[in-house]
Amino acid sequence: MSKEFNVAIAGATGAVGIEMIKTLENRNFPVKNLRLLASKRSAGKTLTFKGTEITIEELTEDSFKDIDIALFSAGSDISKKYRQAVVNAGAVMIDNSSAFRMEDDVPLVVPEVNPEDVKLHNGVIANPNCSTIIMLVAVAPLHKAKKLKRLVAATYQATSGAGAKGMAELELQTRQLLNEEQISPEAFAHRIGFNLIPHIDAFYDNGYTKEELKMLHESRKMLHDDELQVSCTCVRVPIMRAHSEALNLEFENEITPEEARELLAAAPGVIVVDDPANLVYPMPIDATNQDDILVGRIRQDISRNDKCGLDIFVSGDQVLKGAALNAVQIAELL
Ligand code: A2P
Repeated sequence: MSKEFNVAIAGATGAVGIEMIKTLENRNFPVKNLRLLASKRSAGKTLTFKGTEITIEELTEDSFKDIDIALFSAGSDISKKYRQAVVNAGAVMIDNSSAFRMEDDVPLVVPEVNPEDVKLHNGVIANPNCSTIIMLVAVAPLHKAKKLKRLVAATYQATSGAGAKGMAELELQTRQLLNEEQISPEAFAHRIGFNLIPHIDAFYDNGYTKEELKMLHESRKMLHDDELQVSCTCVRVPIMRAHSEALNLEFENEITPEEARELLAAAPGVIVVDDPANLVYPMPIDATNQDDILVGRIRQDISRNDKCGLDIFVSGDQVLKGAALNAVQIAELL
């Protein structure tokens, strides 16, 4: 009989946690027992896994006895608080938060990009930032063939990046604004309904946000290239759950759009959606509930005198490949 694993999900009631449960089920992950953990508020409620109702338990230091794999998506503070309890229980933590991503002995892994790094873990593996995952699934196959030197990105990030409360706020504000009612922003710094906000996570003194620098540092770590140049502007948009990104790419070697399409068509986790004449290009509504990253608008960067530059546009489901699916794929690698 093939091996089965005891799996815990910390943050099981959140936007990503719910999707982790569905992903374990859809991918037929060999789960022996599933333990669902959340705050005291949710303890005693139930969620369904493979047709069976599972009672949610309050997350405590004692939650990880007999657990093999603990998927965490309850925020950085919770991950930091329970790391030692998970490791002491002999389980492996796959953490969706940014708490440990840049630690040297914590692998940061996208299975399509750097699966080999998973072996280096000491009890904790980090799931990368959602925008970085979506970007690198599309960029890594091009980088492997032509060596990426510099990347400039503008993102169009969905409200799901702020969790279930982010999506709820978009829905509520949209209704309120259409009904000419008062709104009161809570999940975001400003109104998100019929607006966009060029601000995700905290600002640094250099003017970049933490989200923008995650894309720089996490890309360098996963592509194993400390010289890689990455500059991003991250923007929250009134979209439910798929992120999009406009990427300008500079390679060490020449690359044509035709070559890029061929490389991407052969790459895992990518669908080339690129037929502008027939109005076909990546859009967040088409990426929603899709495992794969959509890539299109592939064109030569005409601002350059050589053929080393490309512009592309990508869309990917933030909750799935940007979080839950990638975490479960890491568990599959283990
Ligand atoms: P709960 O629903 O009980 O508050 P999201 O990112 O969608 O906002 O979800 C956050 C997840 O983290 C939820 O499952 C939430 O559980 C969980 N969570 C928040 N605070 C705690 C806590 N102090 N202990 C355990 N789980 C928590």
